[in-house]
Amino acid sequence: MIMGNIPTPHNEANKDQIAKTVLMPGDPLRAKFIAETFLENVICINTVRNMFGYTGEYQGKKVSVFGSGMGMPSIGIYSYELFNFYDVDQIIRIGSAGTISPKADLRDVVIGIGACTNSNYGHQFNLPGTFAPIADFELARKAVETGERLGIHTVAGNVLSSDTFYSDLEDPNGNWKKMGVLCIEMEAAALYMNAARAGKKALGMFTISDSLLDGRSLSSKQRETTFTDMMKIALEIA
Ligand code: HPA
Repeated sequence: MIMGNIPTPHNEANKDQIAKTVLMPGDPLRAKFIAETFLENVICINTVRNMFGYTGEYQGKKVSVFGSGMGMPSIGIYSYELFNFYDVDQIIRIGSAGTISPKADLRDVVIGIGACTNSNYGHQFNLPGTFAPIADFELARKAVETGERLGIHTVAGNVLSSDTFYSDLEDPNGNWKKMGVLCIEMEAAALYMNAARAGKKALGMFTISDSLLDGRSLSSKQRETTFTDMMKIALEIA
């Protein structure tokens, strides 16, 4: 394992303050909301750069929830430190995504079993080919099973982790659509690659908040309900 000094320049938590399972929303205020809404005996463990992190208990189980920020460089830093310096075993990203497939509609929860990317993040691993970033199979399976048990509709498949939210291309998603990719988000591929390199587990789950097919998007009320459904799955498998 690659050792480092903790606290880090990005995370002021002590090692024993972080649970073996970390839930990572992109938005640090989402992390705060989750901790306050779903966890008991909560402590705030990080405020550096306002990237709030919390540790608490869910049904007696120690769980941390930590913002990742937007994009692969940001989640790359936080997940790297959590896996390699804080001995975290698994990170479950809980995010939102825009759908590019009729198979994933607004309010669906997508289980990202694979994460395609247009990013060069994987270049650092010096592979003589293309790495296929995938979720941990057991986590993905448990997420699908838990969704079935709770009556929450999940769709499992490939997502695209994009380096750009705004694209200069005329049809940035067309060829990804042809390959059956379900939706677009901006972090999972880096998370999966860091997990693979560290020998740890990761899963990305996404609520479909908007449609890149027809421009529809969820109201703030619908966003909250759908997000709560995804949280129930994430906390059950944590
Ligand atoms: N693109 C990238 N990330 C996203 C989107 C999107 O359209 N919607 C929610 N997260």
